[in-house]
Amino acid sequence: MSTQPLRVGVIGAGTVGREVVRAFLERSPRLSPADGRPLVLAAVAEKFTERAIAGGIPAELLTDDAFALLARDDIDVIVETMGGDEPAHALIRASLAAGRSVATANKHVVAHHGPELERLARETGATLRFEAAVGGGIPLLGPIASDLAADSIARVRGIVNGTTNYMLTAMAREGRAYQDILREAQARGYAESDPTADVEGLDAVNKLVILARLAFGAWISPDAVSNRPGSTSGRPGAPGITGVTAEDVAAMADAGRTLRLIASTRLAEDGAVEASVVPTAVPAASPFGRCDGVLNRVEVDAVPVGRVAFEGPGAGGPAAGAAVLSDLVSIARGLGSTWAGAVRADRADLAVRPVAGECLAAPSGACYPVGD
Ligand code: HSE
Repeated sequence: MSTQPLRVGVIGAGTVGREVVRAFLERSPRLSPADGRPLVLAAVAEKFTERAIAGGIPAELLTDDAFALLARDDIDVIVETMGGDEPAHALIRASLAAGRSVATANKHVVAHHGPELERLARETGATLRFEAAVGGGIPLLGPIASDLAADSIARVRGIVNGTTNYMLTAMAREGRAYQDILREAQARGYAESDPTADVEGLDAVNKLVILARLAFGAWISPDAVSNRPGSTSGRPGAPGITGVTAEDVAAMADAGRTLRLIASTRLAEDGAVEASVVPTAVPAASPFGRCDGVLNRVEVDAVPVGRVAFEGPGAGGPAAGAAVLSDLVSIARGLGSTWAGAVRADRADLAVRPVAGECLAAPSGACYPVGD
């Protein structure tokens, strides 16, 4: 094993990236796995350099030019924590094309460009890891891809968006206004700067696409995943949690249920993939019903193991930063890409349709699927 340090370049020192940088500055010996190469922080690219310096990042590590960082030949591993589509996608693609490993928290890029990035990484032998993209700090993708690799996964479902779970929990407990709760979630760093992706369920759709890839060996299109509940009028309801009213929440409570934004996917008997991200009426006393606030919970049904559940902090800088750091340690240990242990993504053109099942009519006119 080489003892030559792996030099890390972090692109994006926002909510997640600054936690990664902080770990290097404050506890770097912990980032040297006993059976892998030591990791050292070599550079940080951040558009807002003044803010980064004020936040404690040494000026000599900083650049405001991410592509200049990428062009340096003394950087071995890229951490992409800038988020969004472009230029994050171009930066990850260029890094993998050059054979350089990447750890990213970017669920949008992985879900929307997964087939291209996986093909590229396999061609060049570069590693792409994205544990932080789903479930924040919960060790989730690694166990699904590696520890459950010998099982046949039939269904994955979960609460995978901390912002909406925080909001639904507060609506049920405190009866507070939707906008008021949303502002608080943003202030705490759970919601994206543009919360549309959270509240419309698109963030959870991206995460479900990634879960389906690892569980079923297929990249499904985010556009094919339903993010609207049904309605009593027969028309699709509002996206994500945007149509959930205080009256709906109260009616569900009267029925002993609570609403959770559940992302669910399963393999149907005809070989199609069923996939939906919709507010779901779960028993208030069930594990999903008791999964409160910013926590995430994912359940995997597999043969022969049965049901396995993962629960923990699903959003926020420290949680996602911890997952990025674990990916760096995995890269230093030579463990390969997140999908390394999972079935290859060689199932193209799978039919995708919403998850079927009964629903519960609510005062707003939405009909929320019934979950257990
Ligand atoms: N906005 C996301 C959430 C952040 O609320 O879950 C973590 O992916």
